[in-house]
Amino acid sequence: MSTETILVTGAGGHLGRLVVEELLALRDQATKLVAGTRNVGELARLEARGVEVRRVDFDDAASLDAAFAGVSRLLLVSTNVFGPPRQRQHTMAIDAAKRARVEHVTYTSMPNPDAGSLVPFAPDHRSTEEALERSGLAYTALRNAWYTDNLLQSLPGVLAFGKWFGSAGNGRVANVTRADCARVAARVLTANDVPEKRYDVTGGEALTTQQIADIASAIFETTIDVVDLSDDAYTKLLGERGLPPPVVGLIVGSDANTRIGKFDVISDTVERWTGRTPESLRSFLVANAASIRAAATAMRLRASSG
Ligand SMILES: NC(=O)c1ccc[n+]([C@@H]2O[C@H](COP(=O)([O-])OP(=O)(O)OC[C@H]3O[C@@H](n4cnc5c(N)ncnc54)[C@H](OP(=O)(O)O)[C@@H]3O)[C@@H](O)[C@H]2O)c1
Repeated sequence: MSTETILVTGAGGHLGRLVVEELLALRDQATKLVAGTRNVGELARLEARGVEVRRVDFDDAASLDAAFAGVSRLLLVSTNVFGPPRQRQHTMAIDAAKRARVEHVTYTSMPNPDAGSLVPFAPDHRSTEEALERSGLAYTALRNAWYTDNLLQSLPGVLAFGKWFGSAGNGRVANVTRADCARVAARVLTANDVPEKRYDVTGGEALTTQQIADIASAIFETTIDVVDLSDDAYTKLLGERGLPPPVVGLIVGSDANTRIGKFDVISDTVERWTGRTPESLRSFLVANAASIRAAATAMRLRASSG
């Protein structure tokens, strides 16, 4: 597609950065790339590579009208606040896209954000998808599965103490790497054909907590004991560890949602759009083994020094 102007919101975030890199690798000379962020100064280095940087803050409608002017394709990266404030932010962005006559909006959603979801922030994604539908804009919701990358945060603690607490039972998750999500998003943004309204973006295998623990045990040459709790017991445990109630709600809600099968979704989206099989969880852990091991060791040392 030529003479396009593609804008990526949240270009300062982990996913947004990767999408901009993918677009730089894919773009033809006629395509203009715009990185939208609240912190323009932090992305100034992109300008030397031919990317225009514009201020995009979903809490500031004026910034959106200025930034979206002339944009034909927009990637609306969901923000990292939860509940009604996020729903308002996304609605502001969609309204601005409509005013600017953006031709197509791609949105980063989540798997099965329907009313039966037990994830506390599912209504944010559901209402955004509904707002896109109501807007009359052409759009695509990329329902990204939970990132495999999230294990970089959770696995060190599991390895440090040998126990994986949770309440997901035998439910399965088809984790996908953030990099695969970015590769898909960039290709949807540059597609010649009109993309469909919805894609599940998942890894190639849906795994239980026990299966993930077994993979990690083999890679890190240790034994992980999976301790499956009731939601109430898991809530109590996380509360006792000092996590704030909203965070506890997110973690337990996510496990409960896994248990009822709402994350047990496998699609061929990554392969279809990128021509490559999605990176497996095992391969991701092997590639990141050194940093995971170092984080686990640091946690163990901290615990033993009081
Ligand atoms: N699938 C998963 O496992 C998973 C995990 C975590 C998050 N997510 C969702 O996917 C999104 C992207 O993931 P990520 O890993 O890139 O998260 P991240 O690194 O935490 O990035 C947060 C993003 O939110 C944007 N943002 C925050 N407030 C904003 C505002 N007022 N206006 C416009 N943009 C705003 C940031 O943009 P700037 O800083 O550039 O302004 C940034 O791109 C997250 O924000 C979250 O909604 C998914």
